[in-house]
Amino acid sequence: STTRETVFQITPKTDAVSPEERAALLANPGFGRVFSDHMAVVTYTEGKGWHTPQILPRQPLVLDPAASVLHYAQEIFEGMKAYRAPNGDAQLFRPDANARRFRKSAERMAMAEVPEELFLDAVNQLVKIDAGWIPDPEVGTLYLRPFMIATEAALGVKPASEYKFIVIACAAGEYFSKDAGPVSVWVEERTVRASRGGTGEAKCGGNYAASLTAQQEAKEHGCHQVLFLDAAERKWIEEMGGMNIMAVLDDGTLQTPPLEGTILPGITRDSLLTLARDKGLTVKEEPYAIDQLYADAKSGRLRELFACGTAAVVTPIGTLKSAEGTHVINGQTGDVTADLRKTLCDIQFGRAPDPHGWVHKV
Ligand code: PLP
Ligand code: COI
Repeated sequence: STTRETVFQITPKTDAVSPEERAALLANPGFGRVFSDHMAVVTYTEGKGWHTPQILPRQPLVLDPAASVLHYAQEIFEGMKAYRAPNGDAQLFRPDANARRFRKSAERMAMAEVPEELFLDAVNQLVKIDAGWIPDPEVGTLYLRPFMIATEAALGVKPASEYKFIVIACAAGEYFSKDAGPVSVWVEERTVRASRGGTGEAKCGGNYAASLTAQQEAKEHGCHQVLFLDAAERKWIEEMGGMNIMAVLDDGTLQTPPLEGTILPGITRDSLLTLARDKGLTVKEEPYAIDQLYADAKSGRLRELFACGTAAVVTPIGTLKSAEGTHVINGQTGDVTADLRKTLCDIQFGRAPDPHGWVHKV
């Protein structure tokens, strides 16, 4: 390739916590609360393009109160992780896929596109400087949150002419508390997440804002997560608030809803479908009606159900709840779910060979 690496100007943090304090924070980080020392920031100005790549001590942003992101929600993000391999090296999992999806999300939201090389350079250089914040593999990973906001001060409704692309990082243990076992999921029938032609397949903040009342309702019903149905018929399962969904049927088939514009094309989803094919499972990307799913849970045709995503990894779903009642799927983690999770994690953490070339050393 002829593209040269973008060199980020580094301003190191001078008042970082002590190694002892950091070790204490990393022992039990939860999700999304223990942040690393630095952030990568790149600025876009129309006519000038992307410029001023910097690594700065993590700090508050200064925004004009008229910044477009605050009014019209021109915001997109990614979720990916840095893993600590057995030899201590930091590594990323399919970062190129995140860079591509980020570019597609930008296109959908009429934002400046971040070149994939620049995205990868920002992520790599942040992980390099903050590698000490990657937890031990038994505890978790360093979760990376690249995002972009429209910063132009202008209240006219139009694509902004100024943006900031930023990467922050936080230590991540289990997304769901570990002792909870299979999670329970609320089947949302009142609101929808996305419709055909909408922004469902883009990773934009607005999709998540729109999902929060359903997530609140799930919590009120004692559920961990919410499952959305399609907007047109309220018949087909689509995805969850922050993860995709997969079913294991009694004939060994792995089934998941197809990508038709309304669900996020998960990188974990794609990886698991590939690994399942490698294992000789029949993989179906086909619509699954919620009533069929209930019937299959009752008859035993549905053996396992799980959520998958960067934060959730592979999380078994034990029960589905809806206004009509509770459907028990599986009280324990199913065999296929456990096997797929292990195969995926062994590659991500560098404990197993990487036949698909998914792992990138930092
Ligand atoms: N669906 C939604 C709505 C998500 O937020 C996520 C998480 O990023 C996923 C699916 C899974 O995507 P990935 O596996 O790329 O993390
Ligand atoms: C991710 O898995 O990376 C997400 O963005 C989902 C969110 C629930 C944390």
